Amino acid sequence: MRIRVPATTANLGPGFDSCGLALTLYLTLDIGAARDDWYIEHNIGGDIPHDKTNVIIETALNLAPDLAPHYLTMTSDIPPARGLGSSSAAVVAGIELANTLGELNLTKEEKVRIAAEIEGHPDNVAPAVLGNWVVGAKLDGEDFYVRHLFPDCALIAFIPKAELLTSESRGVLPDALPFKEAVKASSIANVMIAAILHNDMKLAGEMMERDLWHEKYRSKLVPHLPQIREIASKQGAYATCLSGAGPTVLVFAPRSQANTLQTSLQNLKMDADVLLLEVEGSGAEIFQ
Ligand code: HSE
Repeated sequence: MRIRVPATTANLGPGFDSCGLALTLYLTLDIGAARDDWYIEHNIGGDIPHDKTNVIIETALNLAPDLAPHYLTMTSDIPPARGLGSSSAAVVAGIELANTLGELNLTKEEKVRIAAEIEGHPDNVAPAVLGNWVVGAKLDGEDFYVRHLFPDCALIAFIPKAELLTSESRGVLPDALPFKEAVKASSIANVMIAAILHNDMKLAGEMMERDLWHEKYRSKLVPHLPQIREIASKQGAYATCLSGAGPTVLVFAPRSQANTLQTSLQNLKMDADVLLLEVEGSGAEIFQ
């Protein structure tokens, strides 16, 4: 059996901590034979554990402590600590693992609730479960969200080789915003959401680039953002945003501009991958 969970981009500028979009990069988890102890083979390297302390297995065992141990193989195209939802994908894979092996019959809503509880906010986990674009809020332990189709456009991801931990990127955010600035930031986000619902990527893009919640505070951690934004804007992109907590930058553009933009960003000769992605429409899936 195979579990497949998509990458996600969170925030889209002013939709900080509440907006997320599923992308066509995947974490794939193959469930092999039952055995005496849990073991997970993976291609992530580093210090990521292979035993039951791995976040995928840990998440599954928290939900279903009596699960029989299995041999698992995880392959992921989602680079860790780049703002592409790798940890959310692992959490969602763990929930799907418990659901499948433990026959829990969880609904999509329950999966979102459990995943958002673990992650603290729904922006990455909800689209990883549901696919496409999700706007959500976690309020006093309750989840409120809307899934909607994202307008057709090209997505160009500029993915630096260097990692940026979410904890570091959250560490530079202010504890509070003045009331008037918060009202302005909220109005920008509201117009962005309405424009996306109206299929108006031009207006949505203008609002995406006017975020007041997080990007300016994070700018010192992502010095490549203004340069990419300038290039993308000159080539007709709708918007350039920090993907999640960074350092990946995502450009939203008309499809006609996709290849030119990809080449221009590759020509920057920075240590980064530049990928053309699509909106992922299905969310987490199980294949027999
Ligand atoms: N909304 C989150 C952030 C995404 O920007 O910090 C990463 O969890």
